[in-house]
Amino acid sequence: MQYGYFDDDNREYVITRPDTPLPWINYLGCQEYFGIISNTAGGYSFYRDARLRRITRYRYNNVPFDIGGRYLYLRDDQSGDYWSPSWQPTRDALDDYSCRHGMGYTTIGSTRLGIAASTRYFVPLDENLEIWQLTVTNRRATPAELSVFSCVEFCLWDAQDDATNFQRNFSIGQVEIEDGVVYHKTEYRERRDHFAWFACSAGLAGFDTQREAFLGPYRGWDKPLAVERGAASNSEAHGWAPIGSHHVRMVLQPGESRQVLFVLGYQENPKDQKFDPPDSQIVNKRFARPVIARYLDAANADAAFAKLRAYWDGLLSVCQARTPDIHTDRMVNAWNAYQCMATFNMSRSASFYESGIGRGLGFRDSNQDLLGFVQMAPARARERILDLAATQLPSGGAYHQYQPLTKKGNNDVGGNFNDDPHWLIVGVSAYLKETGDWSILDELVPYDNQAGSEQPLFDHLRRSFRYTLDRLGPHGLPLIGRADWNDCLNLNCFSDTPGQSFQTTTNKEGKVAESVFIAALFVLAAKELAAIATRRGLGEEAQTCLDEAARMDATVRRHGWDGDWFLRAYDDFGAKVGSKECAEGKIFIETQGFCALAGIGLEDGLARRALDSVKERLATPHGIILQQPAYSRYYLNLGEISSYPPGYKENAGIFCHNNPWVMIAEAMAGNGANAHDYYSRINPSAREPISDVHRCEPYVYAQMIAGRDAPSFGEAKNSWLTGTAAWNYYAITQWILGLRPEYDGLRIAPVIPDAWNGFEATRKFRGVVYNIAVRRAGPGNRVSLKVDGRPVEGNLIPPPAGRTEISVEATIG
Ligand code: BGC
Ligand code: NOJ
Repeated sequence: MQYGYFDDDNREYVITRPDTPLPWINYLGCQEYFGIISNTAGGYSFYRDARLRRITRYRYNNVPFDIGGRYLYLRDDQSGDYWSPSWQPTRDALDDYSCRHGMGYTTIGSTRLGIAASTRYFVPLDENLEIWQLTVTNRRATPAELSVFSCVEFCLWDAQDDATNFQRNFSIGQVEIEDGVVYHKTEYRERRDHFAWFACSAGLAGFDTQREAFLGPYRGWDKPLAVERGAASNSEAHGWAPIGSHHVRMVLQPGESRQVLFVLGYQENPKDQKFDPPDSQIVNKRFARPVIARYLDAANADAAFAKLRAYWDGLLSVCQARTPDIHTDRMVNAWNAYQCMATFNMSRSASFYESGIGRGLGFRDSNQDLLGFVQMAPARARERILDLAATQLPSGGAYHQYQPLTKKGNNDVGGNFNDDPHWLIVGVSAYLKETGDWSILDELVPYDNQAGSEQPLFDHLRRSFRYTLDRLGPHGLPLIGRADWNDCLNLNCFSDTPGQSFQTTTNKEGKVAESVFIAALFVLAAKELAAIATRRGLGEEAQTCLDEAARMDATVRRHGWDGDWFLRAYDDFGAKVGSKECAEGKIFIETQGFCALAGIGLEDGLARRALDSVKERLATPHGIILQQPAYSRYYLNLGEISSYPPGYKENAGIFCHNNPWVMIAEAMAGNGANAHDYYSRINPSAREPISDVHRCEPYVYAQMIAGRDAPSFGEAKNSWLTGTAAWNYYAITQWILGLRPEYDGLRIAPVIPDAWNGFEATRKFRGVVYNIAVRRAGPGNRVSLKVDGRPVEGNLIPPPAGRTEISVEATIG
């Protein structure tokens, strides 16, 4: 069953009924001002940091799930009937409804009783504001007397404090109203130099800024008193809950349309120019006023929208493909790349499943996100790498996250995850391969943001590498620390107290538990570091890296192979995790995929055997399960993984993040049919026809799909912010389609299904457009290339000097 369809030409997903199984959302903004918007206009906005600079309020754990947002109400002033053109919050019947989520914008349209309303929400590039462009049309045969009410509820900036510290917060709310613009200035009188504003392009019949005055006592968003009676009360908020609401009246003749713009913005003033006049307590609006005036003008709003469209056309044009599979094309050409932008911007901080107060930007997560993002905006990737590296600890270890506003690392979600440092090498190598910008390695970057500790970025990579060698366990495998990629494999935690966080509870010192996953990641990172060192003329250092990689490879074979697959770990007692010998959790996906990625077992068939075991034991029609059999009870020595009921999350859920590791491994082993088959099982577009089972958005990946041990097998959860986005993009574009940036050029190495005759693609790489046509001449994956009609040796094409465009014909078979 479907709730909409893809409009591929416009790169939109069109939702045709508002009651989707879960809120189906989109992101507004892609630089500093961000918003989340659902298909019924729910969601919230923030500036840079969802926790520390929340502009509008949102209540999680609410009923319905998605309530509170960017709401408009329409009222028929002749009959008194009123409704929400975005369906929520009044949920009145609509004669038609559509929500078009596009690249950086959402348009929600509907008709009720002959009154059509369509609202386009977007954030212009380079501005800290969002525009709601409402068009109301009278499709009746008679004139319509209408009222429009807008409403946002302001957050008192720190979303965590806002949701908890009521004894203070009920007394601090402040606003100003000038020329119909509502200025939200809570805490501006003291240490803040920022405020929010909410403006409307039409003349006002009234306004409200106090929530209770607008809603009326004991009423919710579905029955605001002001809307019911058709008049705002010009309330001025002192304390309690500041809102911004405009009331606009209009009379529309039959067939007539009227556009009204509502603009919500964020403004920072220079510290010494906060007030106007300077000795007053009145907000200085001199910097905000011209911005407000500009975007209340419909022509400027339209121009800003056109610029946003062009911006996305540019970003997406970096990699476009035309394959025999529509689901592949759709994800590669628009939605997967788009999701990669969201994960780059948000890491795991703000979605309908990440509250925006729980996590900042993750070290591991953000480095991996680069794999799917760097080709779109390399300069921003560069800045992110330097920010991440600046939080690295002198030991080479890492804070697990940093707060985007302060860019300082913290231990709020734990520390000592021993895989963390290597992801920096992975992120940097992705950047170098895409851009060839070797200068980044010479950038001076501090440790732990401490002035005076600056070293070239390359030194940070060295310390990442050493970090593991300094922490080897009894088998010579890396000690796991708090956990590795799998945050829930807590082998040193031994938590027996309810409510204790597995992420932050004090661990055992942990001199025994080892991770085969980190071993594989180490091998991969060491090889990348060797390649980088070689190109810096550090031959000896490169050799050391390769020697250590070879030693670890051998250790994995000796102590990390279980007969038919790779082990997962050794626990604190030195017992195997992920082995035939285990009663539960006999086989894990992570090491089967990642060992192959690192090149372990590719030549002697171990990887193939491991992949066959995955097929036999972990693969399901809904994707590949994390481990089997699921843990049926809580194990003190395993931690959070066994805290989840079987089939969910890390306990035998289909964790979509690591499915692409198996796809890549299959591609490396030469099996394009398997690789693409696994790709298709979790591809959200391919799952669109079962939206009633999948339930999350069909245009983006979810972190998890419930595994076969769960009663809701096939149901997705935690959509949008997941490493799944970057890894799937990387798997399909670089390993299956085989358009692979390497240090010295673009490699063309498709490993596609046997049933495909070929495909076409455009890839922009270091300033050159590669127009690529791949043709299958027979079975197999051997590639022969012609560049501009002339046969070339091998399949690596350095960007030719002085050219802006080349044509590449690849014959495979
Ligand atoms: C989740 C993990 C997540 C971790 C973040 C756990 O509860 O299961 O998926 O990585 O929290 O700290
Ligand atoms: C989600 C976290 O964001 C990520 O860092 C982790 O690797 C996975 N969960 C697996 O636990």
